[in-house]
Amino acid sequence: MESPKKLYIKTYGCQMNVYDSERMAEALGARGYAQTDTPEGADMILLNTCHIREKAAEKVYSELGRLKLLKATQPDLKIGVAGCVAQAEGEEIMRRQPAVDLVVGPQSYHRLPQMEARTRTGARALDTDFPEEDKFAHLDARPKAPRGPTAFLTVQEGCDKFCAFCVVPYTRGAEVSRPVARVLDEARDLVDRGVREITLLGQNVNAYHGAGEACDWSLARLIRALAEIDGLARIRFTTSHPNDMDDDLIAAHGDCAKLMPYLHLPVQSGSDRILKRMNRAHTADSYIRLIERIRAARPDILLSGDFIVGFPEETEADFQATLDLISEVGYGSAYSFKYSTRPGTPAAERDQVPEDEKADRLKRLQALIGRQQRARQDAMVGKTVGVLFEKPGREAGQMVGKSDHLHAVHVSDPTVTPGQLRTVRIVGSGSNSLSGECVAP
Ligand code: 5AD
Ligand code: SF4
Repeated sequence: MESPKKLYIKTYGCQMNVYDSERMAEALGARGYAQTDTPEGADMILLNTCHIREKAAEKVYSELGRLKLLKATQPDLKIGVAGCVAQAEGEEIMRRQPAVDLVVGPQSYHRLPQMEARTRTGARALDTDFPEEDKFAHLDARPKAPRGPTAFLTVQEGCDKFCAFCVVPYTRGAEVSRPVARVLDEARDLVDRGVREITLLGQNVNAYHGAGEACDWSLARLIRALAEIDGLARIRFTTSHPNDMDDDLIAAHGDCAKLMPYLHLPVQSGSDRILKRMNRAHTADSYIRLIERIRAARPDILLSGDFIVGFPEETEADFQATLDLISEVGYGSAYSFKYSTRPGTPAAERDQVPEDEKADRLKRLQALIGRQQRARQDAMVGKTVGVLFEKPGREAGQMVGKSDHLHAVHVSDPTVTPGQLRTVRIVGSGSNSLSGECVAP
């Protein structure tokens, strides 16, 4: 038998790209590819890119420069660019970097095997369509290999919200939900292969509404149906928009035992003036009232958020309002970014905040979040939590996993194996993780 060709995929950006990379590897498996961990010696290198901020795209061009040198020593190597930079700048990539053989946008991954075949004839292939056919339907023939205990599952893609700073509605297209039956089948398949925790993915996951015959399903209903699957222990979802947190989804956090007590709910800013300019369609106060309702349903829920500092026209008073909101909410973790101009989005045309001002605000915001994060983590000491173990830790005899609240937890216990869900008493809090002891077999 011919030995498999080697495929190296480098993934940038969000969890959906991680999921997409897995699916692309599966699709290219049909063309005789197996994944490898290093670019050297690969027959094909795919960069699965992110376009959310300017730096992300620039990183891709410098990586392509390095790969061009590698290709000079490996003439059969094919180089592909996938993901949101491919979608937004496909032609530009082809023009700027002649070493690139293939450019494929996120909605065309099912066409990858045919595109790869084209590159083997010496041609270049570019596909950044938003095709009529459902890419997931074509990507659904999956190998049955065993997998680790956690997996992502994309249930929804694209976004119709058009926040004034964001490229997602342009790169991932309009909001589309996958059919319920397909999601349930994929989840059962993952569980059969050893998965115990599934994170449902979507750019606007709580806008999920099903499709076809079941086009009136909410995300909460989908979660409740998934919770019926024996062997599936934990369900998470990300990323949500505050305006799509309906009553049933809030209630599910209180009454669905498999839904984990962690919620990523970006607010972006605490200033109503800026939220309006961002086209967020909610206020700081409506967000805080929403958090109160979620906490009433699940008091110990850990909240996470996204923040942008230095959005055009943001004043010191606006920024202070963001710090005030953070102080009031009390986050367990957060992602924060300096506003980055994205050509083609409404905010790109507006008065920009100076770079040093953005840097200063980011530092102050991250210091506040850091203190909150640390306090929430330290508060776990002495508590008993569920931990799903994933892999050996850095030190000999250690196993690491994630708690219900998504804290990294390590134990030194020879009875623990990957894939086990154990009850752990937390005994220590380090810089980025908790340490604990298993209390039940
Ligand atoms: N500049 C900075 N941050 C951005 N994000 C999205 N677009 C931009 C931008 N132009 C952030 C938002 C979003 C997260 C995924 O990335 O906070 O929630
Ligand atoms: Fe982008 Fe999220 Fe706003 Fe959609 S809701 S435009 S993905 S930031």
